[in-house]
This record gives sequence, structure tokens and C-alpha cells, in this order.
Amino acid sequence: MKIIIINGPNLNLLGKREPEIYGQHTFEDYFDILKSKFDAIELDYFQSNIEGEIISKLQETGFSYDGIVLNAAAYTHTSIGIGDAVKAISTAVVEVHISNTFAREEFRHQSFISAHAKGVVLGFGLQSYELAIQSFLS
Ligand code: DQA
Repeated sequence: MKIIIINGPNLNLLGKREPEIYGQHTFEDYFDILKSKFDAIELDYFQSNIEGEIISKLQETGFSYDGIVLNAAAYTHTSIGIGDAVKAISTAVVEVHISNTFAREEFRHQSFISAHAKGVVLGFGLQSYELAIQSFLS
């Protein structure tokens, strides 16, 4: 089984960025933990601050991988292009957010991805990613 985690803008700053919301761990450290937890899965990771690169990665992996875990970060709330890409590909996408976006500002309540996703996991901190991966196993 092959799964990719795709992270959007500013998620390269995890550990430094608003730690009261996003926690103290870098994603790279957490990714190592995930890889050892799910050692039977081929797990890839991609992060970009650039909308078009996220769309290209969805297109590149979206017809061959078994699952995509997508945290499009702020683009979730703005990007019709990323939403269209999720709709266009055949691999199921689980949308993930570290924070509970519904408990935050109103502009974070809107998602251009959710309608095309297999499901949404949010609000569980970094554990949201683990729950999303698990959803592909059951
Ligand atoms: C986020 C929530 C978004 O609203 C925000 O722009 C992010 C991170 C989350 O994981 O909680 O950058 O996707």
C-alpha cells in the first residue's frame, strides 16, 4: 500500500509556528514516528508553499497511489484549483487539519476540498494524520 501526505503552506514551520495551536513538533519528527508506526505501508511526504506545486503533486500521485492525506492549510479555504484537482483524480483523498477549524475564525469554516474528499479529520493535533492513514487500512 502506497500513501502520500501532502502538506500545504506554512506547515514547514510546524514546531515554530503558533505552537499553542499547532504544537511543538516539527512535521519531519512526526513523520519519522508515522513511518515506524505504519512500517507495512510505503509512506511518502511532500510539502509546498506553492498552490500549483500542490496541484501538480495531486495529479502526479492521484492515479497510482492508494491514498492521499491532504492538509492544504490556508489553501483549503481559498483554492478552487486544489478542490478541482481532488475531484479530478481517482485516488481517495482524506482532508486533514491539525486544529479544529470550526472552532476558529469563520473564514476557516469554508473548504473547497471537503465535498470531494473521502472524509475529513480535524482537531486532533498531529494525531489527525494518523487517524487519516488508519482510515485507508479499514
Ligand atoms: C490548518 C488550518 C488552516 O486554517 C490554516 O490555514 C493552516 C493549518 C490546520 O492544520 O489546522 O495553515 O490546515
